[in-house]
Amino acid sequence: MPCYVRLMRREDIAQVTEIDREAFPTLWPPANYRRELENRLARYIVAYDEGEMIEEPEMKAVPQKGFSGLVSKLMQLFSHDRFFGDELSLSGRQYIFGFAGFWIMAGEAHITNIAVWEKHRRQGIGELLLISLIDLATELDVRLLTLEVRASNIAAQRLYSKYGFTQVGLRRGYYTDNREDGVLMSLENVTSAPVQADLQRLKQAHSQRWGIVAYRVAR
Ligand SMILES: CC(C)(COP(=O)(O)OP(=O)(O)OC[C@H]1O[C@@H](n2cnc3c(N)ncnc32)[C@H](O)[C@@H]1OP(=O)(O)O)[C@@H](O)C(=O)NCCC(=O)NCCS
Repeated sequence: MPCYVRLMRREDIAQVTEIDREAFPTLWPPANYRRELENRLARYIVAYDEGEMIEEPEMKAVPQKGFSGLVSKLMQLFSHDRFFGDELSLSGRQYIFGFAGFWIMAGEAHITNIAVWEKHRRQGIGELLLISLIDLATELDVRLLTLEVRASNIAAQRLYSKYGFTQVGLRRGYYTDNREDGVLMSLENVTSAPVQADLQRLKQAHSQRWGIVAYRVAR
């Protein structure tokens, strides 16, 4: 699959919000990614398909007259784009498979989110996003990566464990929707030689398995 990673842009917000909505239905409304992109302390990335673009919706070729013509003109006038800016328009956008992000504070970064469209899961994309977050953290000289995950979310915990994250705490009843416990995990000494050597080994295995050739986070 031709899957690449780059920093998130405003034009990705509509797709990212949909992925968020699918992945975390109980956390409605989803995070405000427009605000996240303006946050100096936040970094968000997307995994995208360079080739596939989302197509323009088909336009009606027949000129409309009378009442239906008026309705169609009014719809154009009050379209989402006019009110909310271009990030709500999907057409002509690169297809997004998933996204992830963290907040940086004093040499430490807290992973706020990582999610992949359900139909694209188990194809190495979550791993690609996590590798890219660790690379970005290394570049920014972040020494400690932390996160919180639901106790029942075994898929995510396995992903984090695979990359060396260990459980460092438990917040009882942390999630307000169902009083589920929150597991605190962290990866220490991110920039150290042993952690970087493990990362290289995991990258190599991931590259061989999924045919990913480049791990650079494009700007
Ligand atoms: C967690 C998530 C991002 C993983 O994405 P993904 O693209 O499916 O993950 P990958 O295919 O890259 O899998 C990488 C590793 O994650 C673990 N993993 C992923 N899905 C798993 C599952 N269903 N069961 C067990 N382990 C799983 C495995 O360790 C896997 O490595 P392996 O293939 O060598 O076993 C995805 O399940 C998701 O979007 N979940 C909903 C959102 C969410 O819960 N995010 C975490 C918030 S803290």
